[in-house]
Amino acid sequence: MPLRLDQPLETARLAIRPVAEADLPALLAVNGDDAVTRYLPYASWRGSEDARAWYTRMNGLQLAGSALQMVILEHSSGTAIGSCLLFRLDNPSARAELGYVLGRAHWGQGYMREALQALLDHAFGPLALRRIEAEVDPRNRASSALLTRLGFTHEGTLRERWLSKGEACDVDSFGLLQRDWAARRP
Ligand SMILES: CC(C)(COP(=O)(O)OP(=O)(O)OC[C@H]1O[C@@H](n2cnc3c(N)ncnc32)[C@H](O)[C@@H]1OP(=O)(O)O)[C@@H](O)C(=O)NCCC(=O)NCCS
Repeated sequence: MPLRLDQPLETARLAIRPVAEADLPALLAVNGDDAVTRYLPYASWRGSEDARAWYTRMNGLQLAGSALQMVILEHSSGTAIGSCLLFRLDNPSARAELGYVLGRAHWGQGYMREALQALLDHAFGPLALRRIEAEVDPRNRASSALLTRLGFTHEGTLRERWLSKGEACDVDSFGLLQRDWAARRP
């Protein structure tokens, strides 16, 4: 099944919808912050050229059907405060990888947990995925805590999997099964 989102996902404080070119200035503010990209395997965006290059790359992946890139909008301000994506879709195994990033001003207020709960409902429901994976720099305590809180299992550590900002970096591998998620939902 292709990765798609026809209607925005709505939560109490947020809406999640596919990314549009008009979101790039807000996403540049998020991804241009070194504190945000510190544990991510890419450099901070340095300007609108970086933002556009990213958008072109994501569109290519979406057209190929292997990714779904979304933005997270705050209802109260209407602006994009972060993004989340499903990528590396493996259709025969009904498996994909999860990624997410939130602007620093919004950390620690339960926003990403709220967004990912809605996204995981969509992924394991209408998209019929069976397994979702996530990779995390072991120093990224916030991300590991978030995944654990959502019910992901830490399945192992992959040695020096990333070259991140010139440094070889171990990666913690997390996995969540559809049946794990179903068991946690009311
Ligand atoms: C990781 C990130 C998305 C977390 O988003 P967030 O909205 O601040 O997280 P939440 O507020 O929803 O918190 C979810 C859980 O993680 C915990 N948590 C959040 N930040 C934490 C931190 N700095 N240290 C320890 N635990 C933390 C929360 O306590 C919460 O657990 P609880 O529900 O049991 O209280 C955000 O910090 C971020 O964008 N970081 C930079 C980008 C990044 O690292 N992306 C992930 C790459 S793998």
